[in-house]
Amino acid sequence: MRILPFSLLTIGAALAAAVAAQDATSTAAVPAIPAGKQATDMIPTGPAPKKQRHCVSSIYCPGPLLQAVQLAQLFNDSKTFVDKPTLKAESEVLSAFSKLGDGKGHNVTYQQMLDFVTSNFGAEGGDLITANLTDFKARPGFLSRIKDAALSSFLTQVNGYWPLLARTTASTGAKTACEGCVSSFLPFEKTRTFVVPGGRFRELYYWDTYFVINGLLASELSSVAKDLLMNFADLVDKYGFVPNGNRIYYLNRSQPPMLTQMVSTYIKATRDTSVLDRLLPLLVREMGYWDVNRTVTVTSPYSKREHRVTLYNVDTDGPRPESYLEDFTTVEMAAAQEPGLANLTERQRDRLYANLASGAESGMDYSAARWSRRPLVNTSNTVSALRYLNTNAIVPTDLNAILYKNEVTLSRFFRLRHDGTQAQAWAKRARARREAIHDLFWDSSRKWYYDFNTTAHARVRPWAASGFFPFWANILPPFVHKASHLDGQAKAREMEATFAGLRYLIDRYNGTIATTLLPTMQQWDSPNAWAPLTFIAVEALANVPRSLGGTRPSPAPKGSFALVPKGQFGLPESQLPIQLITGTNDSIPYAGVGKTEANDGSRELMPPHNVGNATTTQTTAKGEGWSDALLRELVNRYMASALCSWRATGGNLNLTQQQDPTGSFATVSSSTLEKEGLPTNATGLMFEKFSMLNINAAGSGGEYQVVTGFGWTNGVVLSFANEFGHLLTRPECPPIVV
Ligand SMILES: *[C@@H]1O[C@H](CO)[C@@H](O)[C@H](O)[C@H]1NC(C)=O
Ligand SMILES: *[C@@H]1O[C@H](CO)[C@@H](O)[C@H](O)[C@H]1NC(C)=O
Ligand SMILES: *[C@@H]1O[C@H](CO)[C@@H](O)[C@H](O)[C@H]1NC(C)=O
Ligand SMILES: *[C@@H]1O[C@H](CO)[C@@H](O)[C@H](O)[C@H]1NC(C)=O
Ligand SMILES: *[C@@H]1O[C@H](CO)[C@@H](O)[C@H](O)[C@H]1NC(C)=O
Ligand SMILES: *[C@@H]1O[C@H](CO)[C@@H](O)[C@H](O)[C@H]1NC(C)=O
Ligand SMILES: *[C@@H]1O[C@H](CO)[C@@H](O)[C@H](O)[C@H]1NC(C)=O
Ligand SMILES: *[C@@H]1O[C@H](CO)[C@@H](O)[C@H](O)[C@H]1NC(C)=O
Ligand SMILES: *[C@@H]1O[C@H](CO)[C@@H](O)[C@H](O)[C@H]1NC(C)=O
Ligand SMILES: *[C@@H]1O[C@H](CO)[C@@H](O)[C@H](O)[C@H]1NC(C)=O
Ligand SMILES: *[C@@H]1O[C@H](CO)[C@@H](O)[C@H](O)[C@H]1NC(C)=O
Ligand SMILES: *[C@@H]1O[C@H](CO)[C@@H](O)[C@H](O)[C@H]1NC(C)=O
Repeated sequence: MRILPFSLLTIGAALAAAVAAQDATSTAAVPAIPAGKQATDMIPTGPAPKKQRHCVSSIYCPGPLLQAVQLAQLFNDSKTFVDKPTLKAESEVLSAFSKLGDGKGHNVTYQQMLDFVTSNFGAEGGDLITANLTDFKARPGFLSRIKDAALSSFLTQVNGYWPLLARTTASTGAKTACEGCVSSFLPFEKTRTFVVPGGRFRELYYWDTYFVINGLLASELSSVAKDLLMNFADLVDKYGFVPNGNRIYYLNRSQPPMLTQMVSTYIKATRDTSVLDRLLPLLVREMGYWDVNRTVTVTSPYSKREHRVTLYNVDTDGPRPESYLEDFTTVEMAAAQEPGLANLTERQRDRLYANLASGAESGMDYSAARWSRRPLVNTSNTVSALRYLNTNAIVPTDLNAILYKNEVTLSRFFRLRHDGTQAQAWAKRARARREAIHDLFWDSSRKWYYDFNTTAHARVRPWAASGFFPFWANILPPFVHKASHLDGQAKAREMEATFAGLRYLIDRYNGTIATTLLPTMQQWDSPNAWAPLTFIAVEALANVPRSLGGTRPSPAPKGSFALVPKGQFGLPESQLPIQLITGTNDSIPYAGVGKTEANDGSRELMPPHNVGNATTTQTTAKGEGWSDALLRELVNRYMASALCSWRATGGNLNLTQQQDPTGSFATVSSSTLEKEGLPTNATGLMFEKFSMLNINAAGSGGEYQVVTGFGWTNGVVLSFANEFGHLLTRPECPPIVV
């Protein structure tokens, strides 16, 4: 399979991670002296990191030991080391370290460091235990509504992945090898089940879990969903906010604040409001964290009004322990390695560390299009754009839409509890935030919600999928409420124009929607397409009222770009990433922006593939409305991406001749798998991210190798099957080109 240029190289390693995900205590990465170094060479050193008050471990937080281990690069992934529990008491480990070299990490050879790590640290993730999912159902109810045999087989197997991703802890918290042994795991108050994303993500993650819970509820595992809520409750109780994940090294930052929506989703599915007894005060407390620690006042250049809005802004001045080498290289070493990059002052270095951590807090680490002052500065590497990271200066559409939805939800919860005063107070906050969202983010001529750049004091230019979040939060653009000069028909056309960008992306590209349309080499930019954003976009479409979405789709005889409001993408059509129609994706240029060669205009005239069949039963006799059509197409495209990439990596649909007469879903041969760089016994991978260009491929790029498992991908697959099963049709997987 010729897929994206460098995922081909990394897919084999990804499988190793997938296998590891199936057993919490299985194989560990074997440390090795990096290529080109001798056992007797000294490990590199650098300026001592600043101590981080929030991070107190002498092993897992920035300090001499962590820096020495991480700069030695014995593992390809910086996260491996910080997930290893010790094999000896902490004091013994520290004492062994102090006997190396000068005791502070200087004058240590690679061999000494290798021996130190091997004899003092156990398998990464060895502090967790695989949980038994006692409520697991092999055939949850929604499967009976899936008629197609290929989809049914795939969905049954994806449902079967939950037990592989379920973890728990020993009664004392992390499982350790001895009295006094330590690990970076943050324990919960009680032993409960939790679900991990998979691969290198071995612990509970914050915003991932919203999408996981949606899938668990489809799989009728509400007991697990409830455990997850209570685990988060423990974290808010103890720390005042939800950390990015439950590891010591995540204690200085959060992630998109989805806990209130997890609770809301759980209650909607189960009617179990008893969880509010414990959770409601904690949800309020979490909102206080965003209000006190992440909220700023911005004066709108458009209305001159002042708004309180929230942004990602982590208070740190050191490398992230789990991405230590990456951050250290970006901040301390890049100037020496790349012409044209200036050295940074101490203050600039501190700010850059904070911006790197803030980008991670956004959940989109990294989108250069969203967070970098110079997203395209050098698209031959992943470091340059990060040097110009400006996360703290951007007021994000998605974050404020999530908080708005939380405020509305809290108001509803208080009403349920007959607390009218609190219900009104939260409704008032929600109204103020909605006004801010409309004033700062909504662009009435480009017809999209854009982040607000506080440096430029204006909305950003480039389109991003984060603009779907207000619709997901049930906000409708001002023209729906205010423009009294528009009649119903005209409002419906305005709304269709708002979504015309999405219409075009589905028509033009073979995969699902990318986060942004700039190919920057960062993993949250083109061509990568992520499950959570597809989910949000689909829910956004589902929230378009029938009065605005029920009209027939506008005809677009010369292709749907003509329907896109001028400037919505922030790029002319000729500068959008290229979708090749024939040939392989290898030739898709990452630095495609600015290429002058014309895109193939015939593409938009071809019927888009893998978008399901139009329905006539849903609406009136006139047939499906434009928003239903888009929803159906996006859901089917996503399912096609998940199924076809899984099959291309060894997934076995196990269909009879009658079920698959043309043999187009036959299992991929072991020789093909081998040519793809996969083990010959590979049995199908669920990828962390996909490509907008090819439904057979995983996404690529970013700070680490392609990850499989995968919590939110499975969650969205199962949730779509449950909610939109009646819209699904059998995908057509493109041939696997080796
Ligand atoms: C790191 O990656 C390289 C290249 O893929 C591989 O040869 C090496 O074994 C890996 N090292 C470790 C410690 O996993
Ligand atoms: C490093 O070791 C060398 C020789 O073993 C010694 O001369 C030097 O002083 C040491 N440096 C430090 C910083 O310990
Ligand atoms: C799961 O079940 C197996 C088999 O009954 C048992 O050996 C194991 O201890 C259980 N694990 C947990 C975490 O309870
Ligand atoms: C992050 O660290 C800073 C400085 O050490 C501290 O002031 C702040 O409270 C920490 N934030 C969190 C979320 O721990
Ligand atoms: C939030 O900010 C307050 C006031 O600056 C500080 O005391 C607190 O540590 C911060 N909390 C977190 C969790 O960062
Ligand atoms: C950056 O600093 C390094 C080491 O201090 C020095 O060698 C290099 O010349 C500096 N680079 C620039 C562009 O100033
Ligand atoms: C924000 O505005 C500044 C000033 O115009 C600009 O340099 C920068 O590229 C913009 N975008 C980001 C993400 O900082
Ligand atoms: C861009 O990055 C590549 C790879 O790191 C480097 O070789 C090249 O010199 C850089 N180009 C510019 C213009 O800085
Ligand atoms: C994209 O889809 C078209 C059909 O719409 C197909 O002909 C083409 O081969 C696909 N290209 C890739 C790279 O998957
Ligand atoms: C649905 O679409 C598929 C192609 O995606 C086609 O083969 C099938 O006949 C269609 N079914 C109906 C009922 O229209
Ligand atoms: C494939 O299907 C057959 C009959 O439907 C069943 O007996 C067999 O166990 C299945 N194999 C796999 C690998 O699922
Ligand atoms: C594939 O085979 C290898 C070695 O024979 C084994 O370690 C691994 O567990 C197998 N993987 C799967 C998914 O069966």
